Amino acid sequence: MLFLQIPLLAVLLAAGDNEDGKNSGPSFQEEISFKMIHSSSFYNDSWVKIRYSAWLGDLQTHGWDINSGRIIFLRPWSKGNLGKEEIKELEEFFRAFSIEMPHELHRHASEWKFKYPFEIQIRMGCELHPGGAIVDFYGFAYQGSELLHFQNNSWLPSPKGGTRAQDMCRRFNQYLVVKNVVQRILSDTCPRFLLSIPEAGKADLQREVKPEAWLSTGPNPGPGRQMLVCHVSGFHPKPIWVKWMRGEHLQQGTQQSDTLPNADGTWYLQVFLDVEATETSGLYCRVRHSSLGGQDILLY
Ligand SMILES: *[C@@H]1O[C@H](CO)[C@@H](O)[C@H](O)[C@H]1NC(C)=O
Ligand SMILES: *[C@@H]1O[C@H](CO)[C@@H](O)[C@H](O)[C@H]1NC(C)=O
Repeated sequence: MLFLQIPLLAVLLAAGDNEDGKNSGPSFQEEISFKMIHSSSFYNDSWVKIRYSAWLGDLQTHGWDINSGRIIFLRPWSKGNLGKEEIKELEEFFRAFSIEMPHELHRHASEWKFKYPFEIQIRMGCELHPGGAIVDFYGFAYQGSELLHFQNNSWLPSPKGGTRAQDMCRRFNQYLVVKNVVQRILSDTCPRFLLSIPEAGKADLQREVKPEAWLSTGPNPGPGRQMLVCHVSGFHPKPIWVKWMRGEHLQQGTQQSDTLPNADGTWYLQVFLDVEATETSGLYCRVRHSSLGGQDILLY
């Protein structure tokens, strides 16, 4: 019921229709997606921490200021062609959503068997395929596993969602206003944004930044052994190849961290090797990245 009490959301529904052809935008050679991510950590029945971010491909374009309830535009071009009014309306929606959604989940936590503490992640956006087709996506996940998706103006249970997801869909689908706003964001706002990304945005996305690499030792893995760490940072785009080698041979027993974002939109990665302390000579870390033009970085 609470969702229905957000009259402001109705404003969004009246926002202008898109008259531009949907195929008139930039022609990226590769698939490109825009996604908005909402994650909330439910610590107990009265305490939730909410975060929003938005990403164009692997580049973060938007953040969220939880105190003011405003979108943070991280790039000079992050507004795309969204108008002032439309941005205000989106902010109203996200503000209302970040109050009402936790209410709803707290209230139904026991019915839907959510056990505190738990994590909710919502991922929504759209993807431009090389042929020009735009496909939208939406996923609602509990503890990292998808319960619901959104299609044809309705929430639907995902294959592994079980009866809990069916119950949630029955409930969520009563919120007509929210449904319409989500549908509109997916089918109108998102594709328009994706097609409107200015040249500056494309230059940022396609920029090549060389990695820096350095070595250190990690926590001692055990008697007579040593943990070697190869750090690689500051590179863009995200795909990279980093290995511990001796001569021409890849070393077994390496472990790789996740590739984590730096604040400037570049990436950071660590690759670990657990070795006998007496067998470290001749080992090197090899870094291959598109920005290096075939000149791999070798660190002994
Ligand atoms: C809920 O969790 C927060 C953060 O951990 C804590 O400060 C607060 O006291 C907890 N409240 C209850 C009712 O347990
Ligand atoms: C969505 O709705 C359209 C038109 O109402 C229909 O043709 C299509 O089959 C539906 N898709 C799914 C997956 O239900």
